[in-house]
Amino acid sequence: MKIFHSYPVAALLGLGLAGILPAATPSINITPFGSMADGRAVNLYSLVNASGARADITNYGAIIVRLFVPDRAGRFDDVVLGYNSLADYQRASPYFGAVVGRYGNRIAEGRFTLDGRTYPLVTNNAPGGIPCHLHGGTVGFDKVLWTAEPSLVDAAPALTLRYRSRDGEEGYPGNLDVTIRYQLGEDNSLSVEYRATTDQSTPVNLTQHSYFNLGGEGRGDILDHVLTLNASRFTPVNAGLIPTGELAPVAGTPFDFRQPRAIGERVDEPDEQLKFGGGYDHNFVLDRPEAGGLAHAATVFEPKSGRVLEVWTEEPGVQFYCGNFLNGSHVGKSGRAYARRYGLCLETQHFPNSPNQPSFPDTILRPGREYRTRTIFKFSAR
Ligand code: BGC
Repeated sequence: MKIFHSYPVAALLGLGLAGILPAATPSINITPFGSMADGRAVNLYSLVNASGARADITNYGAIIVRLFVPDRAGRFDDVVLGYNSLADYQRASPYFGAVVGRYGNRIAEGRFTLDGRTYPLVTNNAPGGIPCHLHGGTVGFDKVLWTAEPSLVDAAPALTLRYRSRDGEEGYPGNLDVTIRYQLGEDNSLSVEYRATTDQSTPVNLTQHSYFNLGGEGRGDILDHVLTLNASRFTPVNAGLIPTGELAPVAGTPFDFRQPRAIGERVDEPDEQLKFGGGYDHNFVLDRPEAGGLAHAATVFEPKSGRVLEVWTEEPGVQFYCGNFLNGSHVGKSGRAYARRYGLCLETQHFPNSPNQPSFPDTILRPGREYRTRTIFKFSAR
């Protein structure tokens, strides 16, 4: 295991690298990635496994900036959307690659009641003109600086990121101590382990917001990607993208991905739910053999490159968002604008608006308890 602070090597590795990479020994390369407005330094950590797959992660927002994995011919491409510079992330990012929290997804009207007290949250989103709280607020976990500790865990390069979210931040109660550990496995799996503890009861729902394009970022839309979702129900929403509370069967609807289907096949069908989201932007209720433990949530296959992404999670749900709100205004790493549906997200999570929806699985973390969950993104090719 090598940990480098070698800036010239970083310049070589840093930008737009694609092609066949030689076999490597697992390593972590650390390079500067700019600084926060208050002067704190931000870094980029390049995790490389023995077969040359590479994840570049910054401690700003715990963002996965680049992710190079091989296609069926062994060619490496960057399969996540994002920017080359910290300034671009700070200026305008629809959560590209970030960890979102304290509560990933929406909370209706930006408020919830817990143990008899009502907590107002920042409202920072208004689908259909209906205000809500989205992804932790104006300055969520995607916009803060985390402390970072690179290490070798079970012979795989890992990065542990920590952040203390203060009592009252964005309206949430309690000091919340959050730890995220990314680990790049020998088998081209990127695992994300989330932990948190609190000193007051608070909602917690953390997720990873990477936009994947298995054909390579910026190369086109994801409508030809073939998706399988291990979910026989989903949570339909109202015009404000807040779940109605119903767990509706997907059978006979464009939401049935239990058998592999191209994303573009039904995305523009005249369906009220698709109309609300401008396409897929919905939480699916995962079918799992038993409660808890890692379960298969989704598989995505991109026919041209042959790349496959499998998502495994301990969470009960996954938000499948097909990049409907991308509109060409974000110019990504390779200098190409990200047009509508140029990336897809599979945000493993508890269901949206759970703090206001008693029938949904509980998202309240209590003092003395530990929030702990894991999601694995596993890449291969066929
Ligand atoms: C939400 C979308 C939102 C996007 C980025 C996704 O998680 O489901 O509705 O537009 O994040 O802001």
